Amino acid sequence: MSVVIRGTGSYLPETRLTNEDLARIVETSDDWIVARTGIRERRMLASDEATSDMATRAGEAALAAAGIDAADLDLIMVACVTPDMLTPSTANLVHKNLCRGRAIPSFDMNAACSGFVYGLAVAKGMMESGDYRRTLLVGAEAMTRITDYEDRETCVLFGDAAGAVVLERSDVAGGILATTLCSDGQHSDLIQVPGCGSRRPASPEVLAERQQYLQMNGRAVFKLAVQSMEQIALDTLKKVGWTVDSLNAVLCHQANGRIVQATAERLGVSAEKLPMNIDRVGNTSSASIPVLLDECNRHGRFRAGDRLLLISFGAGLTWGAAAVEWA
Ligand code: UT7
Repeated sequence: MSVVIRGTGSYLPETRLTNEDLARIVETSDDWIVARTGIRERRMLASDEATSDMATRAGEAALAAAGIDAADLDLIMVACVTPDMLTPSTANLVHKNLCRGRAIPSFDMNAACSGFVYGLAVAKGMMESGDYRRTLLVGAEAMTRITDYEDRETCVLFGDAAGAVVLERSDVAGGILATTLCSDGQHSDLIQVPGCGSRRPASPEVLAERQQYLQMNGRAVFKLAVQSMEQIALDTLKKVGWTVDSLNAVLCHQANGRIVQATAERLGVSAEKLPMNIDRVGNTSSASIPVLLDECNRHGRFRAGDRLLLISFGAGLTWGAAAVEWA
């Protein structure tokens, strides 16, 4: 029995936030942002939109691509760090939008930018245990809601998006063959949103100190990201007995174009096997890999039997990889 990706979907909000737009807000330039990150523009959700709206749209697209009705789902999981609200979960709200009262489990997972790869591992485990045949797994983020537009180091990076897959239990070989997950809480302070949680609840002081926004030590994260993604990629390839040369595509979390390129260089992955969309969407945290996966899939990039490696890295710190044989 295998767990295969039956359909993919994604959603990008309409509004584009270009480098020129940002250069009007903070001291930066299109040249600096393109050279240091590879990003030209990112998307921003509308004032009346929230993460669950984007997640629902991506989920509907994935269900349509899979030819599966929401009534046939057994499980809904949403990976995100920007839920609509603290509770109920964003997955509960997607369930409300899609399942119209049919009682199936739904819950959120927070593993930051690694959330989607963590989600693949959790979904595969639950589906192999026998109770769940079809899962909707979404990575969705309203990163612009937690971005500090007075901090030029972070505000150039992040954008909003949602990506989704429908996973199905199958008798056909392939699908998600192996996953590897890691975290290191020692470095939890390198990327954090310190305010508006239980340690520092929302207050005028917290807001005045701008602690409701994401803070990051970009340079330290950069180094750890490249090292960790290379190592976890090699560990995962070893599990399935694949070589780097045998891969058809490597889908890296679009954290920063230079991080992706450096990781690929260390692994020896050639440019044609390294799809990228960071120039158009920026860093969309847990939505990054499923959006890229959907774009590649819709462009007909994958054939049955293709070997895909998904690699993620993010706050926590968390990192992960998944070896997927396209089925
Ligand atoms: O999603 C997973 C988690 N996040 C990441 O993976 C992000 C990891 N880090 C990064 O992407 C990069 O570290 C950044 C894009 C955040 C920063 O790029 P960098 O090449 O590491 O720049 P830096 O921090 O070393 O700064 C170089 C210079 C500094 O000026 P001085 O000290 O050399 O005079 C910064 O003040 O660039 C300056 N700088 C900027 N200049 C223009 C920093 N941000 C900007 C900016 N525009 N937006």
